[in-house]
Amino acid sequence: MLTDDYLKELWFKFFTEHGFKKIDGYSIIPENDPTVLFTTAGMHPLVPYLLGEPHPAGNRICDVQRCIRTNDIESVGDDWHLTCFEMLGNWFLGDCPKEEMIKLSYEFLTSPKYLGLKKENLATTVFAGDETAPRDENACKTWKECGIKDVFYCGKDDNWWALGGGVGPCGPDSEMFLDTGKPKCSDTCSPSCGCGKYVEIWNDVFMQYNVKNTGEKAEKLERPNIDTGMGLERTIAILNKAKSVYDTGCLKDVIEFISLHAKKGYKEDEKTTRYYRIITDHLRSSVFILGDARGVTPSNVGQGYILRRFIRRAINCARFIGLDCSCFTDIADIYVEKYGKYYDDIASKRDFIKEELLKEVDKFTKAIEDGHKEFEKVISGIEKHKLFAEKTGELVENKISGKAAFRLYDTFGFPFELTKELALERGYSVDQDEFNEKFKEHQEKSRQAAVGQFKGGLADSSKQSAYLHTATHLLLAGLQKKYGFDVKQRGSNITPERLRFDFNLDHKMTKEELDEIENFVNDAINRAIPVVCEIMSLEEAKINGAEGIFASKYGQEVKVYTIGDISKEICGGPHAENTKDLHHFKIIKEESSSSGIRRIKAILD
Ligand code: ALA
Repeated sequence: MLTDDYLKELWFKFFTEHGFKKIDGYSIIPENDPTVLFTTAGMHPLVPYLLGEPHPAGNRICDVQRCIRTNDIESVGDDWHLTCFEMLGNWFLGDCPKEEMIKLSYEFLTSPKYLGLKKENLATTVFAGDETAPRDENACKTWKECGIKDVFYCGKDDNWWALGGGVGPCGPDSEMFLDTGKPKCSDTCSPSCGCGKYVEIWNDVFMQYNVKNTGEKAEKLERPNIDTGMGLERTIAILNKAKSVYDTGCLKDVIEFISLHAKKGYKEDEKTTRYYRIITDHLRSSVFILGDARGVTPSNVGQGYILRRFIRRAINCARFIGLDCSCFTDIADIYVEKYGKYYDDIASKRDFIKEELLKEVDKFTKAIEDGHKEFEKVISGIEKHKLFAEKTGELVENKISGKAAFRLYDTFGFPFELTKELALERGYSVDQDEFNEKFKEHQEKSRQAAVGQFKGGLADSSKQSAYLHTATHLLLAGLQKKYGFDVKQRGSNITPERLRFDFNLDHKMTKEELDEIENFVNDAINRAIPVVCEIMSLEEAKINGAEGIFASKYGQEVKVYTIGDISKEICGGPHAENTKDLHHFKIIKEESSSSGIRRIKAILD
């Protein structure tokens, strides 16, 4: 069996032999990008270098990067989706020798010294062309010269790569697939038809363009690059002809560990399989986040919120399969053993990782216990009603109302699934329709509350106030850049003459610090950045790393204002259309507002 450790070894051997310098992967929390919570691809931390900054290791580099992508979180539990994965990558910076890269890819895939795949079993796709970039005849020709017969032209949906959100360096790509040997699904069967005959193993992106701001056109990069990425877990599973990513490597080890400790067996039924896999995936993501130098812990905002969600979801799943959550620390040990070899922080933070996992288990267990007590109260209420009804002849069903189930969910954080399960044990049903109704009502109320809440900062809707409002977003971004993302808005009051902004900070700001923040805001003003408003679900906004007070849980729609790569906030608006409208920003006062809270007053002149 080809192991992931061995694939990493081969990768670095191959690329260093071909003149690429091996660099360490970066933190899983992006350093200079407030627009997303986690590093989502190998190229993500390299964006400044892809845009022209010289990289200290030179212009040919390779690495393995830990990534987290939460957009598919609901699909985790199937055969292929993971929230966290490692990506093998290599880059040409400021140089785009497409033919050379295709030939390197071909050699790595087919040479007996490396993966030794048969060229007959490979297929590739290339960009079909559109108004931005031409049809990639060159790439097609090079693959054919290598001996690949099945080269497919595909459009932008399949063969154009950009970071989520579409801003940043991007370009047409060429993807490589293993043909599984399954029969063609139709005459037009191709890697993009999704029938499963072809499975992707590698992607070469010819990064020749850049999108500066959301919605803008891609501009040609003066210094184009090549960015490639191979998802380690999927590739290993595919090369080993495994049925899922959970059948190889340490994911398999963790599944086996859980089998030994849970009451239900791994493949007992579909749901149980899912629960096993969610625990396996989410705890690995949690170990990666907790084992990062940035020191994120479970909380209700930002990365901490996602971490909390991973751990709590794992706890819920553990309950369903009869797994005692105290063994989460043993699972963490399996991951630390494995990944500590590659990532020093994971190794050195072993105790911290285990402590934080247990703390969160305790916290959530306490919430669930309180929920249990409430559940019992609901049942005894119905039983009493029944006794009384016997006398009057009224018929009372063994049914928990949707309203009561919603209260358990909303006030006690008690999962609806759990209410249903406990009800079943007692011979009760739950009114799911009414629960759904209450859930929707609640979403609508929160949506209105959220919009109202953010409007609260504005005393009127004059243009001048809107400009000052935009200035508060830039101000917060500047403060967070300087002091970290724990700095949050604690209050805002705007009149057409001035802004007043409260935030948490543990010291009085010095003159130098104030100058720095002022310069940051004026710099953003001078860059004339468009202010873009988008409507999205609260969930999406969170995942995109939007700042804001997350008043409610799932599904509600919110407005998100984005200012280039500087700021992204959930907000009711209104705002300036472009930062240049603000003209010039000046801080006139910095003072204490209350304990641990500072207040800045500023004007636009
Ligand atoms: N950045 C490219 C990807 O993630 C290689 O697929």
